Amino acid sequence: MEAIVYPPYNNCEPKPLTDVQKRILEVKKERNAVILAHNYVCREIQEVADYVGDSLGLSREAKNTDADVIAFAGVDFMAETAKILNPEKTVVLPDHAAGCSLEELCEPMELALFKKKHPDAIVISYINCSAGVKELSDIICTSGNALDIVKQIPADRKIIFCPDQHLGSWIVEQTGRDMILWNGYCWAHTKYQADDLVALKKAFNGAPVVSHPECPKPVRDVSDCVCSTEKMIKFCREHPSDKFIIATVVEMIHRFQREIPDKTFIAARSSRGLAQHCRNMLMNTPEKLLACLENLSPEIKLSKEQMDAARRPIEKMLEMSK
Ligand code: 13P
Repeated sequence: MEAIVYPPYNNCEPKPLTDVQKRILEVKKERNAVILAHNYVCREIQEVADYVGDSLGLSREAKNTDADVIAFAGVDFMAETAKILNPEKTVVLPDHAAGCSLEELCEPMELALFKKKHPDAIVISYINCSAGVKELSDIICTSGNALDIVKQIPADRKIIFCPDQHLGSWIVEQTGRDMILWNGYCWAHTKYQADDLVALKKAFNGAPVVSHPECPKPVRDVSDCVCSTEKMIKFCREHPSDKFIIATVVEMIHRFQREIPDKTFIAARSSRGLAQHCRNMLMNTPEKLLACLENLSPEIKLSKEQMDAARRPIEKMLEMSK
C-alpha cells in the first residue's frame, strides 16, 4: 500500500479565492455573521472561516461571539450546541443532514432507560450527541477536556460515560477509575489499523504517531500522542520531528499544512489503504455554506425547554474546563 504523504505547504501553493469563496465573505459581512468551522471540513471552507478548531474551541467561540448569525460548518450536534448557548441568535448549518454516528448510536430514550438502572450515577456525555441526550446529562465533555473533567469527579461517584466507548476506555486507562461505558463509536476513527501505523512508523524513520481518542485501543497503544484535534496542532508544532503520522480525519491535514508549513504529515489508512474522511463533515460544501448564509436556512430550531435543559451540562463543562 502506498503511503499518503502531504508535502510541506510550500510545495502545494495556496490557491486564489474562488468566486463562491469571495461571495461567502461578502454575504457574511452583510449578515453580520461569523463562520465557525470544525477542523474536519474541506479546505475551501477552512480558508473563509473566522475560526477553525476542535469542539471545545468552537463551543467557546460560539458562546462569546457578538455576531447576529452563526454559520456552523460542522455537524448538527455542533450547530445545536451553538444555538443552545445563543438562543437569541440565528444559527444555520450548510446541510441539516450532516449528523454523527456517535449521535445516532445513543438515543435519548435508551439513555433514559439506562439511567434508571443506575440511579446513583452521574452522566458525562461526549459533546457528539443530540440535544435530547444533552438534556439527560449532568456534564458534557469534548475530547479536549474529558480527562480533566473526569478527574474532577469525586472518586466515590459512579459515572456513566456516553456515547463513545473508545474515548471512555481511554479515560479509564488514563485515570484508573471505573466508568460504565456506552457502546457507541465513530465510523471513521474505528477504521484505522494498528499494523498500518507500525508499518508507517517504520517506513518514516520512527515518525511520531498522533491519534484521536476515538480510535480503538490497539491504535492508541501504538501512538506517541493521543489527543483532541486542537492539541494535535500544539504537539506537532512543538515536537522536534519534521514528519508525523496522523490517525484522524484527513481534512485536519489542511490545518497542519497552513499552520506548520515546514513539516510533513502522513495520513493513517484503513485496511483498504484509504485515508479517512468524515462523510458528514464532507456534506459541508462552499456552495451550501453560501446558500445557508444567503437564505438563513437550514436553521437550527429547538424548543426553549430543551435548550434550557441542555444548556446546564454544557455550561458546567465550560466552568470545569477554564
Ligand atoms: P475534536 O475536534 O474536539 O477533537 O473532536 C473531533 C470529533 O468530533 C471527532 O468525531
